[in-house]
Parts: sequence; structure tokens; C-alpha cells
Amino acid sequence: MTDTQLVTGGTGTTGSRVVQRLRARGARVRVASRSSRCVLDWADPGTWDATLQGAAGVYLAYAPDLAVPGADATVAALTRRAAAAGARRVVLLSGRGEPGAQRAEQAVRSVAEETGLAWTVLRCSWFAQNFSEGQFAAAVAAGELALPVGDVPEPFLDADDVADAAVAALLDEGHAGRTYELTGPRALTFAEAVQEIAAALDRPVGYRPVPLDGFRAELAGQGVPDDVLDLLAHLFTEVLDGRNSAPTDGVQQVLGRPAGDLADLVRRSAAAGCWG
Ligand SMILES: NC(=O)c1ccc[n+]([C@@H]2O[C@H](COP(=O)([O-])OP(=O)(O)OC[C@H]3O[C@@H](n4cnc5c(N)ncnc54)[C@H](OP(=O)(O)O)[C@@H]3O)[C@@H](O)[C@H]2O)c1
Repeated sequence: MTDTQLVTGGTGTTGSRVVQRLRARGARVRVASRSSRCVLDWADPGTWDATLQGAAGVYLAYAPDLAVPGADATVAALTRRAAAAGARRVVLLSGRGEPGAQRAEQAVRSVAEETGLAWTVLRCSWFAQNFSEGQFAAAVAAGELALPVGDVPEPFLDADDVADAAVAALLDEGHAGRTYELTGPRALTFAEAVQEIAAALDRPVGYRPVPLDGFRAELAGQGVPDDVLDLLAHLFTEVLDGRNSAPTDGVQQVLGRPAGDLADLVRRSAAAGCWG
């Protein structure tokens, strides 16, 4: 019988793509999130064991973000339970240049090595899909994206590449014990990325860098809680301070082909009507 692959965050940006690709390869897939039939809530360990039972491979996409305090301990605890439930492989979705994410990587590696699980880490730059289906999509569709980020180039990564890499690590040989640093092929500032979207849509879409304090105050006024504001501040300052600007050949290493370019994603998204 085919092994079961458990996909946490299986309804999200990368997880849904992992699910689709695993099914296309004939794998048995269990989608796990708070809203899926197999419920798994990272915040409620009582939901973990039943969902992990019998899974041979586990895609670990922690939510909301590995930068959240305690995320490393939670991801490590779930990895331990996965091993106890019979899993043989875990693939961790991680973030590039994030100390919290790197702590989680270390924690997962330690548990995996202790329990005999094969592990793979996918350390990713910002997803290009943030513009087309994530938090920024509505603002882009409305004609202006305003964020507390200046001229820092980021090699935006196609989530399709993340999913291809995750499936390779779950189903194929040769990826155990590897940390792949995945980025897109070109580093662009947010203004340049938005300019490419505007050109593909053939209508004006602007980018406006805004001060972090004002950005925080506006979101706070909309009821966004303090811990989420802290997380956003961390992502927009520390993670986007230029430390992650250099593209890597990680996609080529894991998949044997070049990484997808933002321009292709923009063309596909515009054609699919992502921005109306
Ligand atoms: N966006 C980026 O640019 C980027 C870059 C690098 C790394 N990452 C990492 O990617 C991860 C998120 O993955 P993603 O972007 O593929 O997903 P996503 O689109 O952010 O969606 C979140 C997924 O997690 C589930 N989820 C939310 N809260 C949960 C909880 N408490 N317990 C269990 N599941 C929960 C959601 O489904 P339900 O609502 O049904 O629970 C959904 O499936 C984060 O760890 C982030 O740090 C993101």
C-alpha cells in the first residue's frame, strides 16, 4: 500500500500545492490544518496524535510563523510525536535569515537525529505569491501597496518551487540531511516587483514605502493584536534588512532546474485574474 503523507498547513500557500503534487504522484495524502477534516492545531497538542497516526512523511509548515516565541519547541514536540507515530521523514518549511526559524531547524534536526527520522529543511525567501494570493493581493488589486520597506532587494520565490522541492524531499531519495536555501533567480525591491505587476496588468499600481510606526498604528486601529504587530515589525525590519538579498542556486540543487522568475508568476496571475 502507498505510504501516507501528512501535509500540515495543507490548505495554505505551499501546503495546498504540496497536496496537489503528492496526489498527482499517486501518494495518499492527509491534509492537516484547523479547518481541514483531519484537524491539527499547532496550538493544541491534543489534536496532534490522531492526525499523525500512520503518516510516513510529514510536511511541517508552522503557522503563524517560526519567528513566534516558542515555535521551535512546538515544532520539535510535533516532530517527536510524528516519529513516535511511525513517521520516517520530515520536511520543514523554514524562513531565510530568521533567527527563530533557524532555532526551529536546529530543534527539528536534533529530534530527527535522536529518533532516526530523515529530515530536510527548505529555508525560503519571501514568496512571490504574497503579491498574488497572500496579504498584499488586495492592495495590489486596489492600485497601491504601502509597506514599511524601502529599497531592499528580495529574491522573491515561487511557492510552486517550494512545493516541488517538498515533494521531492518527501518521496524521492537523496534529500535527507540537506538544508536547501531556496530563492527566486532575481532580487527585486518591492517597488520593482509592483512595477512588473503593473506592466503585466497594463494599469497603474503604485508602491509606497511608509514608516513602521505609522504602519503599526494603522493596523492597531484595525484591531490587529500586538503579537501580530510585533511579528510584522520583525519580518519587515530584521528579515528585510538586506541579509537575504543574494539569490541562491538552491532550487537548482534540489530540482535540477532553475527557479521560477517573478515575471512568470506575474504573467500567470494576471492571466488568471488574481488582481481582478
Ligand atoms: N509568506 C512568505 O513569504 C514565507 C516565506 C518563508 C517562509 N514562510 C513560512 O511559511 C509558513 C506558512 O506557510 P504557508 O505560507 O504555506 O501557509 P499560509 O498560506 O500562511 O497558510 C497557513 C496555513 O496554516 C494553517 N494554520 C494556520 N494557523 C494554524 C494553526 N494554529 N494550527 C494549524 N494550522 C494552522 C492554515 O489553515 P487553517 O486556517 O485551516 O488552520 C493554512 O493551511 C510560516 O511558517 C512562514 O514563516 C513564509
